[in-house]
Amino acid sequence: MPTSKALLAPSILAADFTILGEQIKRAENAGANRIHIDVMDGQFVPNISFGIPVIQSIRKVTKLCFETHLMINGPDNLIDAFAHAGSDSIIVHAENTPHLQRTIQHIKALGKKCGVALNPATPLIVVDEIIAQLDLVLIMTVNPGFGGQKFLPETVDKVKRLKTMLNQKNLDIEIEVDGGIDAKTAPLVVQAGAKVLVAGSAIFGDKEGIESASKKILDSVA
Ligand code: DX5
Ligand code: ZN
Repeated sequence: MPTSKALLAPSILAADFTILGEQIKRAENAGANRIHIDVMDGQFVPNISFGIPVIQSIRKVTKLCFETHLMINGPDNLIDAFAHAGSDSIIVHAENTPHLQRTIQHIKALGKKCGVALNPATPLIVVDEIIAQLDLVLIMTVNPGFGGQKFLPETVDKVKRLKTMLNQKNLDIEIEVDGGIDAKTAPLVVQAGAKVLVAGSAIFGDKEGIESASKKILDSVA
């Protein structure tokens, strides 16, 4: 059984952008612990989402932690800008960040929390040397680039192995999962050791509304 309750991080990629501020407020009232912001550049991933002006704008509607998931090439050049736009936490991908230790120090020097994301094909070993410096490891449970994809079941074992690695090193670092998370898949990853659940479609795409959708996911892991 999970040792602690999971935290919900709604991904605004699936929100209705015509009423984005309102959707974020609703997610907050429905129990969101943080807002997950997916930035895509059409290079690192085959899709473009939104960037700095959007973050600056939504920063006015909530005090919730903004977690910015950078799916962009050359993230180092834009870390300052994303930090100043209102991010509280910045997640970079290990696959396109060659000097990961330097990047982590850069993010931390700005007073921000730092996470590293791993694509489904990327082994845990790539974060082994720097894991103690992180606040969070994001296990991608789909290949990044699009919302609404099917959860990859083989990632459950990866979450388990990461949990074991953290326990062995006696580290209290958040394990986050992202992609295809809903009330059916959430219990699998929480059981495996995940603490933070990113969910886009399952929250903003639920016909019964953001409140009922959030409750369904949180109840599934209670
Ligand atoms: C995928 C993004 C996810 C995405 C999740 O590249 O990193 O955060 O928004 O969307 P769902 O929950 O719809 O799979
Ligand atoms: Zn994401």
